[in-house]
Amino acid sequence: MDQDALKKQAAEAALDYVEGGIVGVGTGSTVNHFIDYLATIKGKVEGAVSSSEVSTERMRQHGIPIMDLNAAGDLALYVDGADESNQDLQLIKGGGGALTREKIIAAASAKFVCIADQSKLVDLLGNFPLPVEVIPMARSYVARELVKLGGTPIWREGFITDNGNLILDVQGMQIREPAKLEQQINNLAGVVTVGIFALRPADVLILGSEQGPQIITA
Ligand code: A5P
Repeated sequence: MDQDALKKQAAEAALDYVEGGIVGVGTGSTVNHFIDYLATIKGKVEGAVSSSEVSTERMRQHGIPIMDLNAAGDLALYVDGADESNQDLQLIKGGGGALTREKIIAAASAKFVCIADQSKLVDLLGNFPLPVEVIPMARSYVARELVKLGGTPIWREGFITDNGNLILDVQGMQIREPAKLEQQINNLAGVVTVGIFALRPADVLILGSEQGPQIITA
């Protein structure tokens, strides 16, 4: 099976967690499959809170109602992908640049189901460049501070987030203490969000594999 087929398998398995109400929906190629599956049971849900303009557009095309998180209140379920997960279901996210809205929805949700192909499971986070969303005027300052933390930040040139900010992708991080580093980077002036999801990890990780969906729970 190719990687996309494994992503699709994980996305389909996440449908089992949809019990109705308003669903939080993430961003990325794996979530795109989930949105397509969600459309097949759209009568079962009231609608979705979306983490990006891209996901909103895809759900609109399927006729899935889009809700505002402020009006929706806390959500029972959030489904999203990841760029890496460790065994504790701590994640790196933000490859698609939607990390801030993703982190907000994850925080507001009772259950976070992460969907991915099996290649995303790692022993140590950090091989995937760590995305950091920054206020534009803080780009160089934050980059210098990230170097002090041991990383090599690369500006994702030409990319503007849905919130009008910039992304630095930090290479060379070996993230041994994800929650500590999440707090350290979050505390830098000008940082909007760091793509480490350790303070609020996933609750369930569904990995597409040759043997069928593998489910890891926190
Ligand atoms: C979006 O900003 C990311 O957090 C995605 O969830 C992540 O990049 C996973 O993407 P794929 O599902 O495309 O691998």
